[in-house]
Amino acid sequence: MSANEMWGGRYAAGPSAVMERINASIGFDWQLYAQDIAASKAHCAMLVEQGIIGAADGTAILDGLDIILKEIESGKFEFKPALEDIHMNVEARLAELIGEAAGRLHTARSRNDQVATDLRLWIRDRIDALDAQLAALLAALIEKAEQEADTLMPGFTHLQSAQPITFGHHLMAYAEMFGRDRGRFADCRKRLNECPLGAAALAGTSFPIDRKQTASALGFDRPMANSLDAVSARDFALEFLSASAICASHISRLSEEIVLWCSEQFGFIRLSDSFTTGSSIMPQKRNPDAAELARAKAGRIVGALTGLLVVIKGLPLAYGKDLQEDKEPVFDTAGSLALGLEATAGMVRDMEADRGAMRAALEPGYPTATDLADWLVRVLGLPFREAHHVTGRLVALAEAKGQQLAELALDDMKSVEPRVTEDVFAVLSPEKSVQSRASLGGTAPGNVRKAAAAARKRLL
Ligand code: ARG
Repeated sequence: MSANEMWGGRYAAGPSAVMERINASIGFDWQLYAQDIAASKAHCAMLVEQGIIGAADGTAILDGLDIILKEIESGKFEFKPALEDIHMNVEARLAELIGEAAGRLHTARSRNDQVATDLRLWIRDRIDALDAQLAALLAALIEKAEQEADTLMPGFTHLQSAQPITFGHHLMAYAEMFGRDRGRFADCRKRLNECPLGAAALAGTSFPIDRKQTASALGFDRPMANSLDAVSARDFALEFLSASAICASHISRLSEEIVLWCSEQFGFIRLSDSFTTGSSIMPQKRNPDAAELARAKAGRIVGALTGLLVVIKGLPLAYGKDLQEDKEPVFDTAGSLALGLEATAGMVRDMEADRGAMRAALEPGYPTATDLADWLVRVLGLPFREAHHVTGRLVALAEAKGQQLAELALDDMKSVEPRVTEDVFAVLSPEKSVQSRASLGGTAPGNVRKAAAAARKRLL
């Protein structure tokens, strides 16, 4: 193989086969083509405006880049591994199309500021798309929460029945989480929206470039202030991955609950044929594969974050080829998260609550024990610790008799605490329990309806 036509001036021979293989990123960074071409066009226009290259060359370059964009989009472009990456593939094709003028495009620029610019643009686009998906998921959660505002179910701590809650309240908890995810992505977007272009290889350039012009042409808020930072920094990618990892953890928790809820043992919800699969051996099965896969996506996304953190750690300034390893984790994460969000929103819309099963699940486990303790405090004036103790003894008594708290005879209750009156039974039903929890952020159905309406305004 002969020396590289882009940078092979001092090279007599080409790379070994393994050098070419380890060096080439075109297998994945072709995905940056639209951003790469947009950034090249902005750079070219600026070079013309600043009188750094001639207007005729500029026009030829811009036209050539447009042709290349169309070739790539229509699948006619041939990506060559020998040309390493998207930047050199585009530039080499430009030379084929317009000849010598193509060589002027790379004036006052390096692949180092070019790739940093492309990746920022790419992530910015993905953030916008993910944000729209998050909004759709939020809308689905809020709508379902409104439908299920009165649906009673056990709330759990330690996955043990704790207190009655409403299903709507449970769903709104996820709406809050995904709402914060939107905030994290928006925050990441704000910080990444500075333009590295013009930092050149690492030190800036001696040409009279206008970095503000290219920054604004590409929709960035401003040029990055330090040329070394501009080509070395990947914290924007790390922030994207960490916001994604946190969001994936939320998808994963919800998916885990969906898996539990549609199990035979819980039976709280049903997913339709659209979101389940059958078994090739067990005819009765409806497996929640979409939820399981959405749950598992967190694994690879957290892995991507960890992987890139390890690549970046200890890298001296400025650019090192290690940084080429930033793309695959970012690309994989964006794709995995998009799929996970779409599947999750689909499942939320699809799921059908089995209100009877949820209500029946409130029978065992004494989930209104706290209501009883609260009654002892409120009505009898017991200190909470003592009320807790008395309630514990009443629960033990009910357990021994195989009864619910509400089924205990008043005389049995009096044997534990003589001052208990008939009134206590009013707080022992799960319905009363949730209605009473009307404190700010609490589970009462009225609260849930208000929270859903407020979330529509605040989170959507
Ligand atoms: N393909 C490279 C990357 O993804 C582009 C930058 C190459 N820069 C260099 N000095 N070799 O990072």
